[in-house]
Amino acid sequence: MKAQHVAIVGATGAVGQEMLRVLADRRFAMASLRLIASPGSAGRTVRFAERDYVLMAPSREAFEGVDLALFSAGASVSRAWAPVAAACGAWVVDNSSAYRQDPEIPLVVPEVNAEALANNPRRIIANPNCSTIQMLVALAPMHRAWGLERVVVSTYQAISGKGARALDEFDAQVRADGRGESPAHEILPGILSGNLLCDWAHGDDGWSEEERKMVAETRKILSMPSLAVSPTTVRVPVRNGHSESVWARFARPVTRAMAHEVLGAAEGVVLTRESGPGVHPQPRTASGQDAVFVGRVREDGGDPNALMFFVVSDNVRKGAALNAVQIAERVCL
Ligand SMILES: NC(=O)c1ccc[n+]([C@@H]2O[C@H](COP(=O)([O-])OP(=O)(O)OC[C@H]3O[C@@H](n4cnc5c(N)ncnc54)[C@H](OP(=O)(O)O)[C@@H]3O)[C@@H](O)[C@H]2O)c1
Repeated sequence: MKAQHVAIVGATGAVGQEMLRVLADRRFAMASLRLIASPGSAGRTVRFAERDYVLMAPSREAFEGVDLALFSAGASVSRAWAPVAAACGAWVVDNSSAYRQDPEIPLVVPEVNAEALANNPRRIIANPNCSTIQMLVALAPMHRAWGLERVVVSTYQAISGKGARALDEFDAQVRADGRGESPAHEILPGILSGNLLCDWAHGDDGWSEEERKMVAETRKILSMPSLAVSPTTVRVPVRNGHSESVWARFARPVTRAMAHEVLGAAEGVVLTRESGPGVHPQPRTASGQDAVFVGRVREDGGDPNALMFFVVSDNVRKGAALNAVQIAERVCL
């Protein structure tokens, strides 16, 4: 791969900062780097690899000469500026929800559907949401082996998934609790200190946006438009690393041993075969790691075709920044 002129949009955020670490860790060949944030941050400096970069606001000039633009500044910024970056000749990898359901735009988890990158008329690729990415890295190899028929998933999602300011707000809530005061909330949808929240906007049918995303994105990535997916998404007082409890039914009878064999050879998966007190994937240890950690694989005593398992991954890393850079490594040839 020739050295790329790279722009990161949302460079000061939780995902943008992780993108910088991932690019450095993977020695991504960069000819130049532009860091873009909101107009209010323009002119401030950000330090990366022992160099100071002056933050830019999004503009056509900011994207001129850029080969690769990694967007993680929210859907409205992506809608406004991703087409501009693509028109300037850049490959765009977008972390927001703006283009995920656009039929002309591939939605990609490289371990699962890298072949979708071949059909890309608009030079924009969407990165799925973090909960869907880790679930599918674990489920896809089992789907290939036995044919997936139905998924039921409950999530235990970390605070970092709501961005850098949510972590600060959570810390303030814990301090307020410690002083015996009533914690405030603005970014988080409620008090997460000593609590958990079924957050996000709920429609009349009781579904949350995060749950809808898991259904729609899973169906698109697996090219299974009527797959039965039944999620319940929950925010928990964990700083980083999403966990998920998954029940999956397949077209054939399956055993724990069969699942261990498939998952043990799966790209991007680290499998815990052992069981015992504290021996299972955990957000504390998954944090900062590239892999999707899978453990607690169990047979469903009432259904010979079904398995249950636990999946943990760093939502900011594999759930966003790393997945985006893995896509970039495949398109910037
Ligand atoms: N956190 C996760 O686990 C995760 C996972 C998957 C996808 N995502 C998605 O990634 C995106 C960013 O998430 P995050 O967690 O990194 O959020 P964040 O920590 O709140 O960071 C937001 C970033 O966007 C920038 N920004 C805000 N308004 C802007 C504008 N008008 N023009 C240019 N830049 C602007 C901010 O710059 P300032 O510093 O100047 O405000 C900051 O760099 C969201 O779409 C989110 O849904 C996040």
